[in-house]
Amino acid sequence: MLFRGKGNRAGEGQAESQRAPRHIAIIMDGNGRWAQRRGLPRLAGHRAGVQNIRRVVEACAESGIETLTIYAFSTENWGRPEDEVKGLMNLLGEALARETQTLHEKGVRLRHLGEISDLSPDLAQRIRDALALTANNTTITLNVAFNYGGRAEIVHAVQGIVAAGLAPSEVDEARFADYLYTAGQSDPDLVVRTGGEMRLSNFLIWQSAYAEYYSTEVFWPDFDQEELRKAIAAYNQRQRRFGKL
Ligand code: IPE
Ligand code: IPE
Ligand code: MG
Repeated sequence: MLFRGKGNRAGEGQAESQRAPRHIAIIMDGNGRWAQRRGLPRLAGHRAGVQNIRRVVEACAESGIETLTIYAFSTENWGRPEDEVKGLMNLLGEALARETQTLHEKGVRLRHLGEISDLSPDLAQRIRDALALTANNTTITLNVAFNYGGRAEIVHAVQGIVAAGLAPSEVDEARFADYLYTAGQSDPDLVVRTGGEMRLSNFLIWQSAYAEYYSTEVFWPDFDQEELRKAIAAYNQRQRRFGKL
């Protein structure tokens, strides 16, 4: 483990990190507007957004967060102009080629949320290779939601359950969750959205049933360690009741 762990399990800085959420999920929005403000093409914003991922992963690992989920491409994003879609596909491929080894050395376990099979064979293979390489890492899990939709995920789970031939009486919430892309993982405690919108945009709609929400005007490429700290501080002000008193 190469991240300097202030982690939950590490001792130092524990008073602060004990209250860090276990699982943070981020809707990385605002790349296009970030670029527009600078008179740059939207793709330059996406590029800056991809570059920002590493520092946020590092900051999360240092805060003792066990799982970080990032929303990178939604099933609805296919509706964007062809050039932008192509650009986003290329950026993921490039990021995997450039970053996977470093992430692996830092103990990051990569998981993919979404349908891999709809992607180009080359990109799909790169994703599968990265998942296989990092499968046994334990410092932090990074879920990359790419070609992900919450409704599609629920349909995918139902298909899995039907295909497995489960009887209705065997299906409860825990069993259902076993068929989601996030099988085996804890639910997000905190959902962060950058770029100022106040909506989920089809992100983790099952898993976020009891998550705390935090929205910031800051565009994703500008979301740094200090912004993460603010989000966690806001989370720590919340009283989670889960329906109880
Ligand atoms: C988020 O940034 C990244 C993706 C959806 C792929 P946007 O591209 O949505 O940026 P804005 O919202 O247009 O500024
Ligand atoms: C949500 O952002 C999807 C991702 C960040 C990948 P969008 O920009 O696509 O969401 P809407 O269209 O504003 O709801
Ligand atoms: Mg957007």
